Amino acid sequence: MATIDDLSRELGGLRGRRVLVRSDLNVPVDGGTIIDDGRIRAGVPTIRQLADQGTRVVVTAHLGRPDGSPDLDYSLAPVAERLGELLGAEVAFATDSLGESAQATVDSLQDGRVALLENVRFNAGETSKDAAVRGEVADRLATLAEAFVSDGFGVVHRKQASVYDVAQRLPAAMGQLVATEIGVLERLTQAPERPYVVVLGGAKVSDKLGVIDNLLGKADKLVIGGGMAYTFLAAQGYEVGNSLLEKDQLPTCRGYLNRAADQGVEFLLPTDVVITDRFAADAVAEVVRADQIPADRMGLDIGPESAQRFAAVLSDARTVFWNGPMGVFEFEAFASGTRAVAQALTELDGLSVVGGGDSAAAVRLLGFDETAFGHISTGGGASLEYLEGKTLPGIDVLDAGEETFGQRLLKTR
Ligand code: 3PG
Repeated sequence: MATIDDLSRELGGLRGRRVLVRSDLNVPVDGGTIIDDGRIRAGVPTIRQLADQGTRVVVTAHLGRPDGSPDLDYSLAPVAERLGELLGAEVAFATDSLGESAQATVDSLQDGRVALLENVRFNAGETSKDAAVRGEVADRLATLAEAFVSDGFGVVHRKQASVYDVAQRLPAAMGQLVATEIGVLERLTQAPERPYVVVLGGAKVSDKLGVIDNLLGKADKLVIGGGMAYTFLAAQGYEVGNSLLEKDQLPTCRGYLNRAADQGVEFLLPTDVVITDRFAADAVAEVVRADQIPADRMGLDIGPESAQRFAAVLSDARTVFWNGPMGVFEFEAFASGTRAVAQALTELDGLSVVGGGDSAAAVRLLGFDETAFGHISTGGGASLEYLEGKTLPGIDVLDAGEETFGQRLLKTR
């Protein structure tokens, strides 16, 4: 995949050039307040690299899942402000992403300055399944710039106009974040140092089936916690009360448990859990054995014995990938399991990767020092799809463009 340096060579330098950067700035926002700015910070190095070379940087991004029309609840305006603070320079904000405001903002952008376009998902064409419809959005975005840098790792698994189609219309390169994230995922998939342990949690087992399926042949140990663990416990014949349960996945989960046993992959489930009678921050917590959950109770965290077992397994690992919290970490009474796993990852003698989404938010909200982890991914869905062995359209399109890019490069030399 081409880099920004390749792009600079192809264009004979980037000073004064307009470069469109697709970033993933999809951060949690509550009433205009950014709750966790991790993704904005992760996007800064590429934007700064370009701006430092005198590039006119036009950033496009999405926030949430609006219905394809403008909705101020999903405005990127607060993100523009935070990005400006992090860059130490004002970020011009266009109140649309394809219209007059976008054009005027780009036209008045000075060398080395940065603009952010309003949420690209305010246009229904951005996420359309119809390539021609997406193409209209991509055509418009492409008129705003002379080159494209793909740096929104969290969104590269989406075949969307600002991620995929625009890369076919402009000389395209990957940004620093995409390069780093793909590099780490390659370390996980190509000869990881062993033991290789994968920790999965989060609410829904159905979101993780593909990755379990693929990792059963690759990881040495699979550790399962969070809401998804209850479907596995039920698959073993346990009563799980009112805990999260996906009944239609019981046969699949039984199949995985059998396959793990056949293939000699250790499959660790919680042996104790923290239960309560209602989903609330002030609910009274109680620890029970995993096979003793009363019918009117729900499990909201792994218990202390499980936390200790999981941490012990992690202490021997040389490579760990973790995706999904062990419990409802947002409620202090149910945060211990997630905290224990995060702590164990910080003590790892090897590569620890926190796989985006809720687990990345958890380590920050629980107050861990981010530098204590090998890598905190910005893409939960994207890293899971990569580990499932799926093709990521936003990466594939950059690979596919390489030959054309190389040919163009040769011509300029
Ligand atoms: C994410 O939050 O995982 C990315 O920003 C992608 O968002 P999406 O799942 O709405 O496409």
